[in-house]
Amino acid sequence: MVEKKYGHFDDANREYVITDPKTPWPWINYLGNEDFFSLISNTAGGYSFYKDAKFRRLTRYRYNGVPMDNGGRYFYIKDGDTVWNPGWKPCKTPLDSYECRHGMNYTRITGSKNGVEASVLFFVPLHTWAEVQKMTLKNLSHEAKALKVFSFAEWCLWNAATDMENFQRNFSTGEVEIEGSTLYHKTEYRERRNHYAFYTVNTEIQGYDTDRESFIGLYNEFAEPEAVLEGKPRNSFAHGWSPIASHYIEVTLKPGESRDLIFLLGYVENEQDKKFSAKKVINKEKAHQLINKFDTTEKVDAAFAELNQYWDNLLNIFTVKSGNDKLDRMVNIWNQYQCMITFCMSRSASFFESGIGRGMGFRDSNQDLVGFVHQIPTRARQRIIDIASTQFPDGGCYHQYQPLTKRGNNDIGGGFNDDPCWLIFGTVAYIKETGDFSILSEQVPFDNQPGSEVSLFEHLKISMNHVINNLGPHKLPLIGRADWNDCLNLNCFSWDPNESFQTTENKGEGSKAESLMIAGLFVVTGKDYVALCKQLAKEAANSHEGTIAGLAEEDYLVEAERMQQAVDEMNEAVKQHGWDGEWVLRAYDFFGNKIGSNENEEGKIFIESQGWCTMAGIGLEEGLCAKALDSAKERLECEHGMVLNNPAYTTYHVEMGEISSYPEGYKENAGIFCHNNPWVIIGETVAGRGNDAWNHYTKILPSYVEEKYQTLHKVEPYVNCQMVAGKDAAKPGEGKNSWLTGTAAWMWYTVSEFILGIKPDYEGLNIDPCLPSTAHEYEVTRKFRGGEYHIIVKNPEGREKGVKQITVDGKTIDGTIIPCQKGKHEVIVEM
Ligand code: BGC
Ligand code: NOJ
Repeated sequence: MVEKKYGHFDDANREYVITDPKTPWPWINYLGNEDFFSLISNTAGGYSFYKDAKFRRLTRYRYNGVPMDNGGRYFYIKDGDTVWNPGWKPCKTPLDSYECRHGMNYTRITGSKNGVEASVLFFVPLHTWAEVQKMTLKNLSHEAKALKVFSFAEWCLWNAATDMENFQRNFSTGEVEIEGSTLYHKTEYRERRNHYAFYTVNTEIQGYDTDRESFIGLYNEFAEPEAVLEGKPRNSFAHGWSPIASHYIEVTLKPGESRDLIFLLGYVENEQDKKFSAKKVINKEKAHQLINKFDTTEKVDAAFAELNQYWDNLLNIFTVKSGNDKLDRMVNIWNQYQCMITFCMSRSASFFESGIGRGMGFRDSNQDLVGFVHQIPTRARQRIIDIASTQFPDGGCYHQYQPLTKRGNNDIGGGFNDDPCWLIFGTVAYIKETGDFSILSEQVPFDNQPGSEVSLFEHLKISMNHVINNLGPHKLPLIGRADWNDCLNLNCFSWDPNESFQTTENKGEGSKAESLMIAGLFVVTGKDYVALCKQLAKEAANSHEGTIAGLAEEDYLVEAERMQQAVDEMNEAVKQHGWDGEWVLRAYDFFGNKIGSNENEEGKIFIESQGWCTMAGIGLEEGLCAKALDSAKERLECEHGMVLNNPAYTTYHVEMGEISSYPEGYKENAGIFCHNNPWVIIGETVAGRGNDAWNHYTKILPSYVEEKYQTLHKVEPYVNCQMVAGKDAAKPGEGKNSWLTGTAAWMWYTVSEFILGIKPDYEGLNIDPCLPSTAHEYEVTRKFRGGEYHIIVKNPEGREKGVKQITVDGKTIDGTIIPCQKGKHEVIVEM
């Protein structure tokens, strides 16, 4: 059966073009990349916030509504008796044409009806705390048109959690001000808030509304606001209840004529002593300045050009030309774009994450960073320091922190024993990209307590120590609350449905629960740490102070040796106690029983430990990696990717926790949890099996899925989602939890460094591809530390791995590392 298609890629414009508004699920995009963000669906649903989707929510959004995507920035156009929206929703008046183009931090939605076209470009200009909505109205007909245009935004009373909870207060607190065409939202500004929002348009308005019920009517829906249906704004002034902002504009257009209206939804913060310009009157100076910056088409077009230039620059750092469009568009455009979004959002705000639950994750953010560090390393640097500042002196850390306060999140606490290792992972990636060892000397506090600062290097050291100091009976890492798999809760034992698996009191005392996933992670990051120490020894010897982060050459060599020993011991422990015969065990439970063993009835094999232990190369020489990878292929793989475990758990196991709470084939219970597929793929490249790596990779590569399964897959076809229903599910192949997933960074890391094989290293770019035998030649352009390398990889014999020779500017080099040099360089790699 050929599936229905809802859109297609437009690579030249770096856009995904949606041609049918009734996508199988809202297909969204993100505007903004620094402080001010918006989520926007293909029908203009979604909301905006400043920095933190929980504490600084500007506009209201109703989750899980009926219909699903309800509320957003809506434009109503009344043309005679017909009322329609350019994005089709909420009126759902059938349009004569519809198109939504999601691009790099912008979305353009165009609809037409009865000879009028309305095209709205939505974006957040660089370094700006506002969303621009540039609407172009065109009269395509042969007669004059008199249109009534209504805008609509609904204010959230700032704290998105209490906004949905505390109505006995909220219905009395809402306050607005109106000045010309600008509608200000100033709820709680009279007291502790120093911020307000506004919604404006660059033309005189003929009316407005700021009170929701006056505009919509108590018994009406977004699709039928009374004011719009009657073509008469109420000029309402909100006192409490639900403040909104709606402009009313009369537009007349001659045949062929077009007109731009520029709307701006902005956010302002004032200093405490400059909050008011008169009693009760908010100081609008900054709002005026902001409005002034975007009040003409020319200014807005220039800001849009700047945004596009910004993306040109970001996406020019790494480009590939492989002759395979599906690969190129993911590598050159969408994978890198998704990495930026996950870096900005972590797991907080999407159409699957409410923005009020989770803040930034310790492990998540460290992994997201790896997808992004080549683009804006300075932001990655700051992120590392923010993350490390939530660590405790024993190396443990808060599992999450809030982006606004940067404080560790007490509600969830710590005790996830994989967390510390990820700090090494993120920091090493940063240094390899930039060569900036100075980050290790930065003074970073514990739990954000002033006065507790030690060097970042010390934080890395205690991170490693945290694993070593928490080993179990088999000398394998104790799992704690959970490792990367948040749902493998081996010390939880919960029978109370009102308890959270994540936060409930754990039965830590006497636990023998050990994790083979952390074991592999420790070996990978431990080797990285050893290599870092050796490099630091060199750097310290060459530095004029003779030290780095306060330590000398000798100190680093001693530290390297200490950790090498711990890594070797872990390696042995895995081989001795973690090998199940055909694959690596997943864990030992509280009582010391095996999990992920052939001896088990269900959950015989898990993906995470196969991935990490093969990435670590544990037992590579003895052929254990190849065996583990074969087992993964045989037992975990299906048409849509590799499932997390097999067989799925069919009943609840109290000794395993949340994993067995999911029905078979979903989420952590045998779903295709995309995040961990790249671990096996990288494992395949370590073992030199390029065909297998490629096969696994393309199964979850969005562009490959897009071609076959837009309806089944359901969620956005241009980005990875967290989970695709696995082979045991009712609907294998159905995707969920799109956008915010570590999959983005891991797909990037995998393809750029392990498949295409361009790996940043301390001394230069290490070239080591691992390819399918069908890949005979490709080109990569990589900007790296001031140099620009045009790399042509030639593989006439279709080898999977092994570089024969590399020439740089015509000269053969020793080994595979292209040394750093400024300027442009031609590199030829022969496999
Ligand atoms: C989900 C996990 C998630 C965890 C923490 C669980 O319900 O299945 O994927 O990491 O909650 O929020
Ligand atoms: C999502 C979480 O954000 C991530 O930290 C976790 O590792 C995965 N779920 C797997 O459970």
